[in-house]
Amino acid sequence: MDIRIENLCISYGKQRVIDGLSLNIPPGGFFTLLGPSGCGKTTLLRAIAGFTPIASGSLRFGGHDVTRVPAHQRNIGMVFQDYALFPNRSVFDNTAYGLRARKVAAMHIKQKVTSALERVGLAQYAARLPAELSGGQRQRVALARALVIEPQVLLMDEPLSNLDAKLRIQVRQTIAELQREAGITTVFVTHDQEEALALSDQIAVLERGRVAQLGTPRAIYSQPASGYVADFIGAANLLPVQCRASEPGPVRLQLDGHPIAAHAPAPLAGAAVLVARPEDILLSTAPGTGVPARVLALQYLGIKTSYRVELPGGGLLNVDVHGEPAAALARGAQVGLVFDSRKTLVLAS
Ligand SMILES: Nc1ncnc2c1ncn2[C@@H]1O[C@H](COP(=O)(O)OP(=O)(O)OP(=O)(O)O)[C@@H](O)[C@H]1O
Ligand SMILES: [Mg+2]
Repeated sequence: MDIRIENLCISYGKQRVIDGLSLNIPPGGFFTLLGPSGCGKTTLLRAIAGFTPIASGSLRFGGHDVTRVPAHQRNIGMVFQDYALFPNRSVFDNTAYGLRARKVAAMHIKQKVTSALERVGLAQYAARLPAELSGGQRQRVALARALVIEPQVLLMDEPLSNLDAKLRIQVRQTIAELQREAGITTVFVTHDQEEALALSDQIAVLERGRVAQLGTPRAIYSQPASGYVADFIGAANLLPVQCRASEPGPVRLQLDGHPIAAHAPAPLAGAAVLVARPEDILLSTAPGTGVPARVLALQYLGIKTSYRVELPGGGLLNVDVHGEPAAALARGAQVGLVFDSRKTLVLAS
């Protein structure tokens, strides 16, 4: 079932939090709302669920207008960041909650709950209390509880953020598998870009209650529409540059008085922003190559080494070198920055 959001506005007092937002969320897919803290992700998700009143605009599920339909009539499964399990009820009873609320017969409850717990790998834990489970297991119970009612829409608000790094990846895989199996239209909220890239069919990057960009993970990563999106996905370096009027395609410009080549996805003129990802810059030690810079700091991270470098004009950049660097570059070393001319973008600022 698809979700159509049209011209949605939500305010808290005088603060407009969702600002004329429109989105079509296709049926059966994994759709992610991504953006920094405070951009309106939870507010939008709660509005889809029916917990937050909508000031204006409309919300449709599979063609039906549900803008004024109360939450309990929307047939939605929801998973929260903090599990929201009943601490004094067993895993079984927590999972059965939505079915009992819907007055499903006991016989069916037993069978549906058992099957939901099997799907999340917790069948043998049915009698335990939440406190007797690990964080990852608790979040699996929350997932079973959301799925057991066979919802038309599954909403998840940062379900992985309370888990440690390893568990996060495990539960992430469980979520991806269950979602694909069940084919439920899923809206997932995160501010973790890696999670969004790994899980999503489509991502909407939000910026102050509006959609900054909508696209596949690949499109959002490789063709960011703005410096904001590029910075949010992939921690790009953003540098102000001046650009003579140019058509879309290869452009030449000056960075601190040194020529570099980049790519402009759209026509440009005047003030622009250069967007270069840390992994798309090479550090050269050959004299006279690239834009001169100085190494301020470095961090060895195993799979890569991250360098912080400074341009003569004071601009700062992060550069990642994967594998072992050809030459050990210490703090203070002089290097030349060589930009990948196809991957370095110039966008209107
Ligand atoms: N109940 C509320 N009353 C007043 N203001 C609120 C309320 N809930 C959220 N806000 C404000 O609305 C804005 C959006 O909040 P929201 O919770 O949707 O952000 P978010 O994108 O989910 O952020 P985070 O990543 O931190 O969870 C914030 O500025 C927040 O302070
Ligand atoms: Mg939130």
